[in-house]
Amino acid sequence: MSRKLFVTTALPYANGPFHIGHIMEYIQADTWVRFQRMRGEEVNFVCADDAHGAAMMIAAERAGVTPQALVAGIAAGRKPYLDGFHIAFDNWSSTDSPENHALARDIYRALRSNDLIETRSVEQFYDPEKGMFLADRFIKGECPNCGAKDQYGDNCEVCGAVYTPTELRNPYSAISGATPVLRTSEHFFFRLSDPRCVEFLEEWTQNGRLQPEVANKVREWFKRDASGKAALADWDISREAPYFGIEIPDAPGKYFYVWLDAPVGYLASLKNLLDRNGVDFDAYLADPALEQVHFIGKDIVTFHTLFWPAMLKFSGRKIPDRIFVHGFLTVNNGEKMSKSRGTGISPLKYLELGLNAEWLRYYLAAKLNARVEDLDFNPEDFIARVNSDLVGKYINIASRAAGFLSKRFGGRLSADLGVEGRALLDGLRAHGGTVAELYEEREFAKALREVMLLADRVNEYVDRHKPWELARQDGMDSALHDVCSVCIEAFRLLTLYLKPVLPALAAQVEAFLRIEPLQWADASRALGHHTIGPYQHLMQRVDPKLLDALFEAPAAAATAAALPPPGGEDIAPQISADEFFKVDLRIARIVSAEAVEGSTKLLRLTLDVGEGRHRNVFSGIAAHYKPADLAGKLTVMVANLAPRKMKFGVSEGMVLAASDADEKATPGVYVLEPFPGAVPGMRVR
Ligand code: MSP
Ligand code: ZN
Repeated sequence: MSRKLFVTTALPYANGPFHIGHIMEYIQADTWVRFQRMRGEEVNFVCADDAHGAAMMIAAERAGVTPQALVAGIAAGRKPYLDGFHIAFDNWSSTDSPENHALARDIYRALRSNDLIETRSVEQFYDPEKGMFLADRFIKGECPNCGAKDQYGDNCEVCGAVYTPTELRNPYSAISGATPVLRTSEHFFFRLSDPRCVEFLEEWTQNGRLQPEVANKVREWFKRDASGKAALADWDISREAPYFGIEIPDAPGKYFYVWLDAPVGYLASLKNLLDRNGVDFDAYLADPALEQVHFIGKDIVTFHTLFWPAMLKFSGRKIPDRIFVHGFLTVNNGEKMSKSRGTGISPLKYLELGLNAEWLRYYLAAKLNARVEDLDFNPEDFIARVNSDLVGKYINIASRAAGFLSKRFGGRLSADLGVEGRALLDGLRAHGGTVAELYEEREFAKALREVMLLADRVNEYVDRHKPWELARQDGMDSALHDVCSVCIEAFRLLTLYLKPVLPALAAQVEAFLRIEPLQWADASRALGHHTIGPYQHLMQRVDPKLLDALFEAPAAAATAAALPPPGGEDIAPQISADEFFKVDLRIARIVSAEAVEGSTKLLRLTLDVGEGRHRNVFSGIAAHYKPADLAGKLTVMVANLAPRKMKFGVSEGMVLAASDADEKATPGVYVLEPFPGAVPGMRVR
């Protein structure tokens, strides 16, 4: 009977493209899933965009699009990354899907009937100009500890102090700049402090299901105070409108906090997949043999080991079986990557430069283990591992043997192999169990070390038997045939062991060896009488120049690839400085402005550019400015534009104004005004 596995990775925030930390998580999970599939286990491996939240709403507003459009734009850019790094999710959905709306509300209703939801008044900062409550990250002010300006509402980036937004001095809304006021509203809480929850979670987190360091960390939540009450507190699960999220049943204008519906997205993506495949979702989850496994990073442990299992348990659903927590990927000696931006390595640039995706898969696997440890991407180490281990030890085995086989023996393998050859191969097969166990335990570094030790044995065998010498000696044909055949069979076994990490390479090897896709059980078989195809080069060594290029300052276009174009339009093609200086921009004083009879669009401006004469300029801003608002102000004009004859007179230049390509998306036209001090006639450059 095969195992049934439902596997997920964390759902990435949909406000930006993937960074290399995301890719690391996916490579870890994908490798594990591929291993399970090679064993014949049934896996559903899903992910989705985490679409909701205040940050998403505000990012969308700034970009001048709806949150749905922002998420859709990001989602549309996901595929090249996933395909490029051979990450084989069965489904990619979104937490804004109909399935997720329905499931999140169902789960909430069940918690409510279980008497685990309660409402309370909460006092919070409110932006009177925007008409919205402000999350901590959207309030700024002076640090109450060191006085640093422009610090966020939750902690100071200068002195590190942690505080609540109400402690900030001179607080202001990071969205509108307005001074926030305190307001009370009704919030919904999940009563995690209920003894039923505490008892369940303590057992669930402490019974060996979690990695020891994870269990240890969450143990703090179960410490009791003098009155016997655990530290686990109730969880505020509601947010006030306006919010991009899922409305709470029977509570108009209240939304689920993004972290309530985010993990529900695991189930929603699964349901979306199963519905499409005609499989009954409830029946699938009701199977007691089903194992539910979540791969996540160390920063989101609390959500996955306390809130999520409790939500599932007390809504009468299946609870997760395993939470696999990994550390963070750092780049170049621990330089911390920003969670939202990521730094160091752009995954898309990696692919675009032509770096092989499987080099990265191999490199990361060679460093990953089952503990919650950070791991560092180091370029020299990367080059060394790929070139000396992957290519030098493993790929070389095939390239050393395949040529002789095709030239001298028509690609036919010998089935005898000799005593020593058979012993070598038996040894390789005998290690299959260990390698499998290490994959199962997510000890990928150890698994690859094991495989490389086996590759060493094969290379020693080749060095002892020197096929290149056998090939030159008379009467040694059958010895040469055996040695090369042993190499090919060994190469097949090593490929099998590496296949969870190197799926595309394995497919190339399968084509070259003319065999069916390798399954784990094929380790105990032998090729025997078999004819292989001609050898084609399987993998290059890393050229260090490529890595230098990878670390050069990222092209702005690459990082912004999945975002909507700024201002609604793409940046214009590059021009030289010389070309720019052909445009003569000057500070101009608007001496007077008046409506143009017969035109609803144009204003007639009289401008002083310090030339001892005035210019007449027509500007299409009548819908946005009253003449009286403009008179006397300074602005910027193009002073060497060819005069243009219009219906109402000649226009002698152009005034500069900002606008979105789609004025409906971000309404308005904004005439430019210089900082104080500029005077008419000054050149702008
Ligand atoms: N949206 C939430 C997760 C919701 S799950 C129901 C979130 N998103 S995230 O985009 O910030 O992070 C997604 C995953 O990437 C998390 O597991 C996080 O730990 C992981 N990583 C983010 N930066 C990382 C590294 N530098 N290294 C490895 N993984 C990292 O959190
Ligand atoms: Zn401070």
